[in-house]
Amino acid sequence: KLEAIIFDLDGVITDTAEYHYLAWKGLAAELGIPFTREDNERLKGVSRLASLEIILELGNKQMAFTEEEKEHLAKKKNIQYMELIKRITPADILPGIKPFIKEIKEAGIKVGLASASKNAPAVLKGLDLLDEFDYMADANLIANGKPDPEIFLNAALNLKVNPENCIGVEDAKAGVQAIKRARMFAVGVGSMDQLGEADIVYASTSELSFKKIIEIFSK
Ligand code: BG6
Ligand code: MG
Repeated sequence: KLEAIIFDLDGVITDTAEYHYLAWKGLAAELGIPFTREDNERLKGVSRLASLEIILELGNKQMAFTEEEKEHLAKKKNIQYMELIKRITPADILPGIKPFIKEIKEAGIKVGLASASKNAPAVLKGLDLLDEFDYMADANLIANGKPDPEIFLNAALNLKVNPENCIGVEDAKAGVQAIKRARMFAVGVGSMDQLGEADIVYASTSELSFKKIIEIFSK
């Protein structure tokens, strides 16, 4: 029996995945590291420092910086990112998300958030969605990033529901893997070749259908 739907934020509720990409691209350019949209797929759902490691690896520069310098680089990216998210308004909620959340609530099902982003509260505030969630996992308190299931299990625990009675919604490959490892039903939003491990994949949020998802989940 379905008890909760737990959302990723970046790339699912709003297109901040694009802002993360732009901010990383700026930093990569400064470091002289070529960084493409395809490379960026590997960063989706991944924590700030782990993302930096991937970029440095792309440029063969993992060894070029001390831990302190890496912290500084990650901070620099975040300052750029925070600048970009300042302009977020409710108009930036991706199509279909508002009615989807409304249907979930009307069905008496809980709504959770499992975002790896430490900026999640600021983004949700800009979107005016802070009040929609029964529980938001705090990325600062999560030790193991996606694809580890920790953040989804943390959300289920705090929503007081059984993970097997949860659906997770993700746009990242690592995120879908985290949902599956948490023994939840996975809804992917994006391309089938990235998200093939999900139980159902939609090309975009505008296609999310509560009825259809419940139907497949209940089978
Ligand atoms: C995830 C994004 O939601 O949050 C990643 O998909 C990002 O791209 C991660 O690196 C951490 O975000 P932040 O805001 O804490 O740097
Ligand atoms: Mg995401």
